[in-house]
Amino acid sequence: MSSINYSEKIPNNVDLSSDRTLQRALEQWQPNFISWWDDMGPEGSTDMDVYLRTAVSVDPQGWAQFGHVKMRDYRWGIFMNPGDADRTIHFGDHKGEKAWQDVPGEHRANLRRIIVTQGDTEPASVEQQRQLGLTAPSMYDLRNLFQINVEEGRHLWAMVYLLHKHFGRDGREEAEALLQRRSGHEDNPRILGAFNEQTPDWLSYFMFTYFTDRDGKFQLCALAESAFDPLARTTKFMLTEEAHHMFVGESGISRVITRTAQVMNELKTDDVGRLRAAGVIDLPTIQRYINFHFSVTIDLFGADESSNAAIFYSSGLKGRFEEGKRPDDHVLKGQTYKVLETRNGQLVEKEIPMLNALNEVLRDDYIKDSAAGVGRWNKVLEKVGIPTRLSVPHKAFHRNIGLLAKVKISPDGRVLNDAEWNAKVNAWLPSAEDRAFVASLMGRVVEPGKFANWIAPPVMGINRQPVDFEYVRFN
Ligand SMILES: [Fe+2]
Ligand SMILES: [Fe+2]
Repeated sequence: MSSINYSEKIPNNVDLSSDRTLQRALEQWQPNFISWWDDMGPEGSTDMDVYLRTAVSVDPQGWAQFGHVKMRDYRWGIFMNPGDADRTIHFGDHKGEKAWQDVPGEHRANLRRIIVTQGDTEPASVEQQRQLGLTAPSMYDLRNLFQINVEEGRHLWAMVYLLHKHFGRDGREEAEALLQRRSGHEDNPRILGAFNEQTPDWLSYFMFTYFTDRDGKFQLCALAESAFDPLARTTKFMLTEEAHHMFVGESGISRVITRTAQVMNELKTDDVGRLRAAGVIDLPTIQRYINFHFSVTIDLFGADESSNAAIFYSSGLKGRFEEGKRPDDHVLKGQTYKVLETRNGQLVEKEIPMLNALNEVLRDDYIKDSAAGVGRWNKVLEKVGIPTRLSVPHKAFHRNIGLLAKVKISPDGRVLNDAEWNAKVNAWLPSAEDRAFVASLMGRVVEPGKFANWIAPPVMGINRQPVDFEYVRFN
């Protein structure tokens, strides 16, 4: 079960050849996926040989194999963690019943929507990152970008498999639509806001992989608890791959900070103009990028008060982060949770039924996790004696969804009027000038072992290869 059959047209560990109809349907979708990849995948990468990891098993020990692969020939496939025939549902109204191997009729529409929404983010991020290879700060970073891109492509496969196998004709139509929407497109955009934003430069990209791929982690963790067992098993394997994406973001920002701090100490200055003239990204700009990506990403968890969230949980479709480890009754009826709203120009807490607050619960778990990494970035500054500290903004800052949408809140949580907001917004969110400055630093550096001036080399290479390894061969 855990080893992957690479001799088939579609590599898989789901015994695809035993279901000819399904196999044929997916083999028809495959060329459409490839033509989407040719159109929207990383620009100019078709003939490059890239040192990629490819899943060869779902065994947590040794699941991946590394080697140079031509981008176009990457073997996208369908991989699922092994099942447990005795698995029972561990939360919601069906708690204690056997997990579902098929979709119950009454949950069909909601499950389809959950899978489509998750599936839509995967190709969206590839589209958002399409141009970045042209301005890679090193060959090492270029390789990591491509690794993430091919894996997001595989995550799309993972969701498409579920749609094809379990949702009949509707599922096949949804699978087609996943290849037709485009990030940022006026008429046919991707489903979620953050996935229609641009990722125009590598600072944005590292922020995206740190903050927004982490949203992916939390969503996948919640789906890995699902009563719908194929979804749980699929998302568990996706999480194995996702860890690297967040590593790229966390280490990427850490390397930017390392380099900036180095120049700050060399020049003995924190003057933004002098640092920019020296070609590094000043800390206030990094803070504004954090503010932007954090706030846009926490919107992805949805409205603070949501009856859908309650339905998804009670019916067993989507659990909480680490559901199994929580010491409560896993039904949550009669419990409450605090969300924020504004009253008389003040942010105040409002107690609502826990079941309706589950988006907020997941958001708060996410905030804890993402703030921890910012703490690790601060250690970089602390170590070299720079007193500035980075932080995530207040969770009410710059929100577009739920009770806090359309009220203006400062990064430290004060309610503002429009004039106050407008006077400070350029200090809090990246301005056009900040973005232009960051863009001006972007240039292609791809000689093995060389790095752009604004970022420090990584501490070590990929898969224990040296930092100056030839991660990408240009043909
Ligand atoms: Fe993904
Ligand atoms: Fe990811």
